[in-house]
Amino acid sequence: MDIITAPSYEALSKEAAAYISRKVQDNPQIVLGLATGSTPTGLYEQLIKDHITLGTSYRHVTTFNLDEYVGLSKENPNSYYAFMEKHLFQHLDIQSEYTFIPDGMSAHQQKECNIYEEKLKKHGPIDLQILGLGANGHIGFNEPGTSFASRTHIVELTDSTRKANSRFFKDIKDVPTHAITMGIDSIMGAKEILLLVAGENKRKAFEQLLYGEISEDFPASILKKHPCVKILADQSVLGTSGIIA
Ligand code: GLP
Repeated sequence: MDIITAPSYEALSKEAAAYISRKVQDNPQIVLGLATGSTPTGLYEQLIKDHITLGTSYRHVTTFNLDEYVGLSKENPNSYYAFMEKHLFQHLDIQSEYTFIPDGMSAHQQKECNIYEEKLKKHGPIDLQILGLGANGHIGFNEPGTSFASRTHIVELTDSTRKANSRFFKDIKDVPTHAITMGIDSIMGAKEILLLVAGENKRKAFEQLLYGEISEDFPASILKKHPCVKILADQSVLGTSGIIA
């Protein structure tokens, strides 16, 4: 794992955006894996700026999102579909038929997982996967204990993840209990992975990622086995804790 540190969240976002924009320019048909949550919003802001000022085009880019809540419609502002529209897609020249997100409203959830895997097979592999890090080490919505061999599947969200994500909802009761997520093995199929880690609340998880063992109890630990992982961490993660990155 290649670890790059940035002095601030803004610097991290700019660095990640510059990296991705270069990749898109080099390969206009790139397949990107995208994440939601607070961490990548700065990156998406920078990609939009880059698109507007430098004209980087996403016309031939395909994207796969990691996950979606079960039971939230596309119109629900808390769905990851709405998140991606708001924070990225509506500002780019990307073609909506090439932006894939699991359908959390599907009446046949298992079937939806299989369909998503088929799409990944058809349009993939993912060239560059963007990841955030859950405070409990989750990637996508793969909670501790998830099999490293998992493909796209339905998960029951842990109380800690529902609590962490409740900041986006009116009430914790409104946070869905389940989600569809790409599995660990689906994520590991990406040719390259860019993990973004920002904020003091990720310090413990980051430390465990660096120094802990590879275990299904800490899903992100599998990244140590991927041949091409870059980690971008900001100063608030490193703090003065003596974490050596
Ligand atoms: C969420 C998402 C993940 C995200 C992670 C961290 O639950 N499903 O894809 O990477 O948790 O979120 P944040 O960046 O808001 O801390």
